[in-house]
Amino acid sequence: MAVPVRVRGIGAYAPKRVLTNHDLEQMVDTSDEWIQSRTGIKERRMAAPEEATSDLAYAAARQVMERTGVTAMDLDFIVVATVTGDMQFPSVACLLQDRLGAKQAGAVDVAAGCTGFLYAFHLARTLVASGVHKRVLVVAAEVLTRMLDWTDRTTCVLLGDGAGAVILEAAAEGEEGVLSSHLGSDGSLWDLLYFPAGGSRTPTTPETVDQRLHFFKMNGQATFKQACGVMERACQQALEDAGLSLAEIDLVVPHQANLRILNQLSERMGISAEKMVVTIDRYGNTSAASVPMALNDAYEQGRLKPGQLVLMVSFGAGLTWGAAVFRWS
Ligand code: ACO
Repeated sequence: MAVPVRVRGIGAYAPKRVLTNHDLEQMVDTSDEWIQSRTGIKERRMAAPEEATSDLAYAAARQVMERTGVTAMDLDFIVVATVTGDMQFPSVACLLQDRLGAKQAGAVDVAAGCTGFLYAFHLARTLVASGVHKRVLVVAAEVLTRMLDWTDRTTCVLLGDGAGAVILEAAAEGEEGVLSSHLGSDGSLWDLLYFPAGGSRTPTTPETVDQRLHFFKMNGQATFKQACGVMERACQQALEDAGLSLAEIDLVVPHQANLRILNQLSERMGISAEKMVVTIDRYGNTSAASVPMALNDAYEQGRLKPGQLVLMVSFGAGLTWGAAVFRWS
């Protein structure tokens, strides 16, 4: 790639309202014991009624901009990863561009399910590396709790709301920043995770609403079976592209879908607990937002230090997967 690219700053936002497993016991036929033992989740956050995805995106974006001193006019592109936009269109990115006052920035959303942040990160990296753009705001934001069927215990206990943001910008010649980013997809597995109705295939009708077809549907076991393999292969490819071994990586930031998936990944790849960032107990699965929220958590806890090498990895609806390696500066 022509222009070196670096990650400048991290920010995140988690809505205030905490929904615990005990709260869920009052809503559906489930138990704290089942949820914790099958998923590792203890609680998740839920957006307030007046909060939509662009509000969460704005809060995360403001935090990374305040931490770095980057102003809205410094941004020349905005990419938002989400599958829960405020509305079908326009994009969350355009709503965010307006609210930030980023008058010189193009803006677009990316939909790649839980891999959304890795996709947005890769696109932003290539925009900057091409020399066409100098500084890109990358945000992942989701309000999935609005898209859940609160009578379906197999899905409603898994997901939560949140947002995370980074800025990618041109680095000085010779400076190490983003070392690799690798993406993959297999659309033949599209029906593992989806919203059945509300799109052009099955438009909204009174019947689709009655049949609860606008809510998140997932084949949990089939998704689980794919998860480890695609994440492991994505990690290996990203490491190979970066010319690094796993032993040289300081921090692994994986998508937080299920603690059992994270444990399996750690075992298969030999990732130590000190290197692995785990936040699923507090936030559940926040889809595209989970990787930047976990990265922010590591930053706030002082686990992410200048000079360290970070490996991020995710998988999600599509089916999609991706991994990236960067040096934190
Ligand atoms: N509480 C109590 N019991 C439950 C619950 C619940 N919340 N949910 C399911 N059960 C029951 C089932 O009905 C079933 O009962 P049965 O045996 O009487 O039929 C039993 O528990 C076992 O169900 P399984 O589906 O076999 O449970 P499993 O161990 O597979 O765990 C889970 C389910 C947690 C969903 C798991 O499959 C998983 O995590 N899959 C991966 C999901 C994922 O990674 N998604 C990521 C992408 S999300 C995105 O892209 C937006």
